[in-house]
Amino acid sequence: MNHANIKEALEWRYATKRYDATKKISENDWNLLKQSLHLSPSSYGVQPWKFLVIENPEVREKLKAVSWNQTQVTDASHYVVFLYKQEVDPQFIQKFVDRIVEVRGVPAESLDGYKGMMIENLAKAPDEKIRVWSQRQAYIAMGFLLQTAALLKIDATPMEGLDATAYDKILGLEGSGYKTVATVALGYRHPEDSFQNLKKVRFAEDTIIQYVK
Ligand SMILES: Cc1cc2nc3c(=O)[nH]c(=O)nc-3n(C[C@H](O)[C@H](O)[C@H](O)COP(=O)(O)O)c2cc1C
Repeated sequence: MNHANIKEALEWRYATKRYDATKKISENDWNLLKQSLHLSPSSYGVQPWKFLVIENPEVREKLKAVSWNQTQVTDASHYVVFLYKQEVDPQFIQKFVDRIVEVRGVPAESLDGYKGMMIENLAKAPDEKIRVWSQRQAYIAMGFLLQTAALLKIDATPMEGLDATAYDKILGLEGSGYKTVATVALGYRHPEDSFQNLKKVRFAEDTIIQYVK
């Protein structure tokens, strides 16, 4: 990819309102989209998230009813619910440290300092602070997914227009330690989705991106 391709993809993408329900994302493309979630960065690398890919059409119908009846929920090829972890407790931090040891083959003791820092800053932090922090991490993954989709010329819609508490109930998340924060629909735009023809509305670049010299 070169600059021109990337710029073109960024301009091509838009928050798709209407999907062509007959078009499905290929397995090959989905595998790459999945990787963009899996490889997303997070603070400390701790990954306080999960991503639910909703394949069941009946569940999608139920979710649509609590998503302002937005048709993307049922008509998109793939529908991903972003969950954030409510608490980052010492057990979870230990699980993450064990994973570093396993993947990198380093001695567990070499991570004692790092682990202590995570316990201090995450496990001991007030619940509300962790909730906000965890949600932010999920949005980074959302950005990675949206960008990867655009580069593959796959349409996507980031979505917050939904009742997250109702999602948690429908998806049986009570007691799991995870909660819904947002979703992303993915697939192919309907040729009659008029939103694809709208000009992008952004404040003038120099009022948003400023240089401190
Ligand atoms: C976090 C987030 C939540 C959004 N929620 C919805 C939504 O529920 N439904 C929808 O149609 N668009 C939703 N949007 C799309 C925005 O309205 C859209 O990105 C914005 O107007 C800019 O337009 P563009 O993405 O087409 O360039 C959401 C966007 C973001 C980033």
